[in-house]
Amino acid sequence: MSNATLVLLITMAILAQVAAVGLFGWQRRRARLQQLNLSGGAAGGEVRPALVLSRQLPEAEPALVAAGVSPAAWSGYREFRIERRAVEDECGAVCSFYLVPTDGGTLTPYRPGQYLTFRLEVPDPAGGSPKTLVRCYSLSDRPRADCYRISVKRVPSPPGRSDLPPGVVSNSLHDQLQEGGTLWARAPAGHFYLTDDGAVPIVLIGGGIGITPLLCILSTLTHRADPREVWLFYGVRHGAEHIMKEHLEGLSKAHPNVHLQVCYSEPRPDDRLGTDYQHQGFVNLELLRRTLRFGRHEFYVCGPPAMMESLVPALQVQGVASEDIHYESFGPASLNQRQVPNTVVVTDPVAVRFSGSGKTVAWDGCAGSLLDLAESQGISVDSGCRAGSCGTCETRIEAGEVEYRQQPDADLKPGHCLLCISTPKTDLTLAL
Ligand SMILES: Cc1cc2nc3c(=O)[nH]c(=O)nc-3n(C[C@H](O)[C@H](O)[C@H](O)COP(=O)(O)OP(=O)(O)OC[C@H]3O[C@@H](n4cnc5c(N)ncnc54)[C@H](O)[C@@H]3O)c2cc1C
Ligand code: FES
Repeated sequence: MSNATLVLLITMAILAQVAAVGLFGWQRRRARLQQLNLSGGAAGGEVRPALVLSRQLPEAEPALVAAGVSPAAWSGYREFRIERRAVEDECGAVCSFYLVPTDGGTLTPYRPGQYLTFRLEVPDPAGGSPKTLVRCYSLSDRPRADCYRISVKRVPSPPGRSDLPPGVVSNSLHDQLQEGGTLWARAPAGHFYLTDDGAVPIVLIGGGIGITPLLCILSTLTHRADPREVWLFYGVRHGAEHIMKEHLEGLSKAHPNVHLQVCYSEPRPDDRLGTDYQHQGFVNLELLRRTLRFGRHEFYVCGPPAMMESLVPALQVQGVASEDIHYESFGPASLNQRQVPNTVVVTDPVAVRFSGSGKTVAWDGCAGSLLDLAESQGISVDSGCRAGSCGTCETRIEAGEVEYRQQPDADLKPGHCLLCISTPKTDLTLAL
């Protein structure tokens, strides 16, 4: 056999191998996408989310991202050890936890802005058996090979309601979870993340603990030495609540394209305007107009309900394109309800039947979500985020169809729905 024939045979063998690997990869991806199909209707009937919010999906693997799944994510819950804890503010209300997988495996990469969903066993204060609770926490640092980081705020009882218990999971993490302790988490997920949109300047707007996904976005941009202009508007009440103050100031000093705009709404006498913070008051449209240059910007907003409900619609009214406004709220999505009051148009009342409890209720469009409706009937439903993120309220649909008022973050089994963000589209029977 001549040398030329040998080379030809080797080349053909390599090409055949490449083609086989490509075909195998394509088939696996196709099967995975079919498995992740976001069907919300009863078996066989597909229901698509009624409303797709303004969050952009990246070019790569849009269906996987739509289902809230990061490439190469693990399935179910994985155990993590607390490698380190760090208090992040003067008043000790926010603590960061550095998490390392106990299986010693590699960490799934994530998109800056995404979160982890945790499952925790917390003791019952009444002395009963421990309860399993699910909560989401944003990844607060840039993707790294060695650990994940979350930053958790201790949630007190609501103002003036000391009769109510303080936040169960956040306080349990602060008080019980020491270095060396473990907890279980699902893979990174979420639709709120940094998109790579050329040279468009980025505006990060965070209120209180809503700063966490923005910290992740900011540290990713600075680590990459991204040349885009980046503005961080960060609102807190006063200096004691200002988290990672030195770190943020260091980033802004080291990166001339990073502009820090900190607002204190109730500064203490020793908080120094111009040094500790740049503006007194809230982050609002007027401040953005005063500070930002004319032209297109990409906005990322995460904060308390009052901030979200005022700023996001204001940006829209101001003419900011919806694909340039990315937002996330850490609780029930009041913003979505307010913005799209007519998402669910129910002309005739429909009947919602809870087959397990034998109750049937007329739905007139005013009950909030199906989760609210079930709870108003005394039907006990497990829930976590109440925002379509954690998947805890997933329920099987026995008959009928639902509509979503926002895109679910959690991936759903076929024929199931997330009660916390759905409403009935037709007469409905739920396995509850
Ligand atoms: C996508 C996402 C990302 C998030 N990221 C972060 C993050 O990075 N950092 C962070 O700190 N949080 C984050 N959160 C919020 C977090 O998931 C929890 O919601 C938060 O920690 C509160 O949980 P908890 O168990 O401590 O409070 P809960 O026990 O759920 O209590 C919440 C509030 O309800 C009050 N309450 C208790 N009983 C009653 C009652 N009977 N009636 C009325 N009120 C009552 C409590 O006093 C408390 O004020 C995120 C949420 C989501 C959805
Ligand atoms: S409670 Fe988390 S998805 Fe519904």
